[in-house]
Amino acid sequence: MEEQDKYIQALINLHIDLERQGPGDTNFSNHILSLIKELPVNPRIADIGCGAGAGTLFLADKFKSKVRAVDFSREFLSELINRAKQRRIEHLVEAIECDMGNLDWKPATIDLLWSEGAAYNLTFEGALKTWRPLMAANGIAVISEMNYFTTEVPEPVRVYWQKAYPTIGNESENANYANSSGFEILGIHRLPSKAWWDNYYGPLRENMNSFKHSEDRIMQSVIKETEEEMKLFEKYEKYYGYSFYIMKAV
Ligand SMILES: C[S@@+](CC[C@H](N)C(=O)[O-])C[C@H]1O[C@@H](n2cnc3c(N)ncnc32)[C@H](O)[C@@H]1O
Repeated sequence: MEEQDKYIQALINLHIDLERQGPGDTNFSNHILSLIKELPVNPRIADIGCGAGAGTLFLADKFKSKVRAVDFSREFLSELINRAKQRRIEHLVEAIECDMGNLDWKPATIDLLWSEGAAYNLTFEGALKTWRPLMAANGIAVISEMNYFTTEVPEPVRVYWQKAYPTIGNESENANYANSSGFEILGIHRLPSKAWWDNYYGPLRENMNSFKHSEDRIMQSVIKETEEEMKLFEKYEKYYGYSFYIMKAV
């Protein structure tokens, strides 16, 4: 296995049994949906970068409509299918193993595009431009994006994110990308930091403890990097985090 593949495998091993593979919160998602008034009764839904399916299962349950769930990790998708079976809603989940940058779907066929913590893989602007043609007329996109909350960012935060995500922006820059990519911003809502700790970092920390004695060198470096990421967030959470962008295709 190539070094990069081993790194991805270590990340998958650390995250596979977690409810979420990134920060999020069901109550918060419910709140976001409550703000959207313009969806058809049986919306055509996609969850892009779905991981093991926290968003997919939530949306399938909520709308009783089929969700196209896209991820390039077969392991996450089979975990999603198992979870859907346990809830007896597997008929509402279409698991699609592919690259989110390469969706060969018919244009204008998605009424609700959902993507939590995954758009950064294409950059926020890249994701908007790539996915916009998929949106049905007046379709709604809900995309969570890691971004700065302020224009003044402390040096350690800037240095960290410059390396980890060089195209990271702030909310007003991202709103400009949305406007220039064929979307109208309906709202921008920050995921509370409590959701990071309760639903993501907390359970992830338990998994890190269980891999603490692993002899896998790459797993050890993934754990060390994740600890650094957590320390940074603990100290600087008011300067950055996930914002949920609610957008209408115009
Ligand atoms: C931070 S996780 C978020 C997962 C899920 N949305 C959640 O909130 O629990 C990002 C997901 O994007 C997937 N991913 C990364 N790059 C991808 C790509 N190019 N195509 C498809 N999926 C990708 C990863 O496998 C991972 O499941």
